[in-house]
Amino acid sequence: MITLIVLPNIYLCPLGLLLTAVGDTSLCDLMLNEGINVPHLCGKACVCSSCIINIKQGAEAIRIATNSEKALLVTNRSDSRLSCQSYLGKVC
Ligand code: FES
Repeated sequence: MITLIVLPNIYLCPLGLLLTAVGDTSLCDLMLNEGINVPHLCGKACVCSSCIINIKQGAEAIRIATNSEKALLVTNRSDSRLSCQSYLGKVC
């Protein structure tokens, strides 16, 4: 079980939120399940990048980005990820 801190965002989550992650769920689904209306225009199919988030700490706990995800991360921020493609735990 991992605790995630969603920092305040004036549009999506003004007060911020603590989330508890269990199982194999994407960060996008975790936030949607808690009522945070994360944009996910392509239906979480890894083709739009509307679900982009920035990981401030703990990125090592998230599986590495696939080439498909990397192709959509058109930003120079190294902490960006697509929340629909970000799952906790490493794939061996
Ligand atoms: S919802 Fe489209 S890439 Fe994540």
